[in-house]
Amino acid sequence: MRAIVCHTPGQINDLVVEEVADLMVRPGQIKVAVEAAGVNYVDALFVEGRYQIKPNPPFTPGSEVAGVVMELGEGVTSLNLGDRVLASPGLGGFAEQVVVAASACSVLPAVLTSTAAACFTQSYSTALYTYLHRVNLKPGERVLVLGGGGGVGLAAIRVGVALGATVYAAASTEEKRAAALAAGATAVFDGDPEQLKQTIRAGSEGGIDVVIDPVGGPSTEASLRNLRDGGRLAVIGFASGPIPVIPSNLVLLRNRSLVGVDWGIWAMTNGEAQGELLRQLLDMVATGAIEVDEPTAYDFTRGVEALSDLLGRNVVGKIALVP
Ligand SMILES: NC(=O)c1ccc[n+]([C@@H]2O[C@H](COP(=O)([O-])OP(=O)(O)OC[C@H]3O[C@@H](n4cnc5c(N)ncnc54)[C@H](OP(=O)(O)O)[C@@H]3O)[C@@H](O)[C@H]2O)c1
Repeated sequence: MRAIVCHTPGQINDLVVEEVADLMVRPGQIKVAVEAAGVNYVDALFVEGRYQIKPNPPFTPGSEVAGVVMELGEGVTSLNLGDRVLASPGLGGFAEQVVVAASACSVLPAVLTSTAAACFTQSYSTALYTYLHRVNLKPGERVLVLGGGGGVGLAAIRVGVALGATVYAAASTEEKRAAALAAGATAVFDGDPEQLKQTIRAGSEGGIDVVIDPVGGPSTEASLRNLRDGGRLAVIGFASGPIPVIPSNLVLLRNRSLVGVDWGIWAMTNGEAQGELLRQLLDMVATGAIEVDEPTAYDFTRGVEALSDLLGRNVVGKIALVP
């Protein structure tokens, strides 16, 4: 089978598409013919050697996929050959096949295309986990989503609206702001931190209850300053690079909270709860409570370009690699 291989962590440009040995299926596992692989920040971090876990090279990046079950390991009864599933192998997803534990796969609702499904788990789980387990969002609260045209951002808009919040979004381009509005944002702001500081309060009728922050940098403080009494800012990521240093008086004022979100570690150590969270999300998709954006599909051979475009801020929504 073909796979995208990292021989020496460091440069995304050094990734190569290669013919590699077929994978063995052990008891309890299944082999999935990959129809699409979601492209995420964490995949780039693995390749650049910047993630806290450093796999031994050579390895294949790719943390989430959707595809069709092509082989069942001994003892697997929960799935059938031909089922369409989504899976989160962590690594190995940028390949024509993956092998994963059957218990960690979910059958896809018919409304979800393979490309959309491949980009679903990380962004949508992060959004729902943040709202339910970290900031305890209540219906009617006002949410501001930073990076609102990105993967986590669009998911946070759609899930926030489905949970009954009024959602505002900030993004850097007209195209990204249009995507945020299409996902259900009530109003959108320019993502430039200086402009944000001035415009959030006026544009959101007096302030925000919850900020979803996958961006970091100066936008974090600009948003924190606009949190109302009891407001919470969810620290999700630092896509812009700089990790902000926050004056703690801004947290003291108005009884605000800064809330850390580490969905990845939570999902790894709470498999059953993550399974339940994903079931809840897939039910929301199946019943139409959330609509999932179709990602931009790149041919599998364009893995380097896909990761570069993601890091270069050139993507609206998500990219899926299609073998
Ligand atoms: N904590 C968790 O559990 C968790 C889970 C999933 C993801 N994450 C993290 O969340 C972050 C965002 O992930 P994502 O999938 O939403 O990524 P994404 O689709 O690339 O979106 C990130 C957004 O950040 C904004 N941004 C601002 N400055 C940027 C810069 N210099 N370079 C790139 N983007 C910039 C961009 O929006 P504008 O152009 O509109 O500013 C972009 O749309 C990543 O750091 C990821 O590792 C964390």
